[in-house]
Amino acid sequence: GKRQRLLVVANRLPVSAKRTGENTWSLEMSPGGLVSGLLGVADEFETKWVGWPGVDVYDAAEKNALSKSLAEMKCIPVFLEEVFDQYYNGYCNGVLWPILHHMGLPQEDHNDTNKTLQTQYDAYKKANRMFLDVIIENYEEGDLVWIHDYHLMFLPQYLKEHNNKIKIGWFLHSPFPSSEVFKTLPSRSELLRSVLAADLLGFHTYDFASHFERTCTRILGVEGTHEGIVDHGKATRVAVFPIGIDPNRFIKACALPEVRQQMTELKERFAGKKVILGVDRLDMIKGIPQKFLGFEKFLEENMDWRDKVVLVQIAVPTRNNVPEYRKVKTQVHGLVGRINGRFGSVSSLPIHHLDCSVDFNFLCALYAIADVMLVTSLRDGMNLVSYEFIACQEAKKGVLVLSEFAGAAQSLGAGAILVNPWDVTEVSSAIKEALNMPLEEREKRHRVNFQYVKTHSAKKWGNDFISELHTFSESEMKSK
Ligand code: UDP
Ligand code: G6P
Repeated sequence: GKRQRLLVVANRLPVSAKRTGENTWSLEMSPGGLVSGLLGVADEFETKWVGWPGVDVYDAAEKNALSKSLAEMKCIPVFLEEVFDQYYNGYCNGVLWPILHHMGLPQEDHNDTNKTLQTQYDAYKKANRMFLDVIIENYEEGDLVWIHDYHLMFLPQYLKEHNNKIKIGWFLHSPFPSSEVFKTLPSRSELLRSVLAADLLGFHTYDFASHFERTCTRILGVEGTHEGIVDHGKATRVAVFPIGIDPNRFIKACALPEVRQQMTELKERFAGKKVILGVDRLDMIKGIPQKFLGFEKFLEENMDWRDKVVLVQIAVPTRNNVPEYRKVKTQVHGLVGRINGRFGSVSSLPIHHLDCSVDFNFLCALYAIADVMLVTSLRDGMNLVSYEFIACQEAKKGVLVLSEFAGAAQSLGAGAILVNPWDVTEVSSAIKEALNMPLEEREKRHRVNFQYVKTHSAKKWGNDFISELHTFSESEMKSK
């Protein structure tokens, strides 16, 4: 049969452009969980992507050239130009991101009128309108529009105002906080009302969905039902769809000669030592300082382990123009220096900290040779890194130490050692438990999680969401 047409709208396109010369671009895969999750869905539908291309281009000829190379990958760019900084660095990642992760509003810089919440909020709306314009230009009747994440909370309303018949889903890849936190946002009601204009709203976990519903009932006074939210007779379905990965992509990669070679080299490099691995964007929500403090305590208390273990931390650069991100980077570097200074020797260092991204095959090699994966997010939507680690551990059966504040704790909690990342002592003893865990116990835990990762794929996630969007809008039609 004919495949369903789908417009996937997200701030990030699956590829980001880098300028290589005048009118020439190279396209690289974009970092982050949203993109990796969505790549697993694209084949199921006739998908087109709408999003910001990763660079800003002002010249018409250049826009044209870039649009052409993106079109080959079914991507349609939204050029955000001068709005970008206030929208992305300002409102999205300086305001909404911390609120959604329970971190509160930033201190406003009252001396800089260009940095006020109001200016950023206006830019945010403007950017959402720019997305709207591109969607309108490319929408064909029958397309489903699936909007992703906190960057685009106004888009459902804008689109419905334009054409009430368009079927719209919106998915939040981050947590949704308690209403007590969300309430502090000056524009709380407008933002909530706008997303409620969609037909279906999706969240990773039951907790996030119910936080959202309770926030709507408290702030807007709307009615919360088993199915979702009802406002003046208009129903918005709210449901839980935990995302996954494409497990076979990782399983296959681990069998490639190139990856096996990299594994051999890594094993030689770390011979006689256990490897603890961390892979995170260098974001305050990932709890990298807390991870290092836990590891420091472990080294303090376990002298016999000092020259037998390394922590390899891949800290993927991210959102460098947001002040909070620069602060956390400096803080992390300070801790690495201190811990390596205390426990290192001329020939070996306990922490290998890298401010870089790694290519897919090398990432798989790292996942595959690690003895312990350490995820200490303070809050995290799902955390796909923990899924990817499990997919690569069929041979090794290493241990996942996982923060109870990551969405993944709901799904991988059975096989992981769960920790409160704020509790340094608990992190330290979880590291010890993981390093000492007997093979039989590791196998048992791995089997449970591997089974889960295999069956709860990104493909299933996408299909579940889209079929719910179909069903719900149809039943709504009938009831009218
Ligand atoms: N990743 C990446 N570049 C790297 C290392 C990892 O793009 O150098 C990917 C990783 O494979 C995973 C994603 O980034 O798919 C991170 O997703 P996660 O859900 O763990 O966190 P997010 O970054 O979305 O907050
Ligand atoms: C998280 C967000 C995504 C975002 C990704 C990478 O996964 O939920 O929306 O794309 O981080 O962040 P960036 O700001 O580089 O797109």
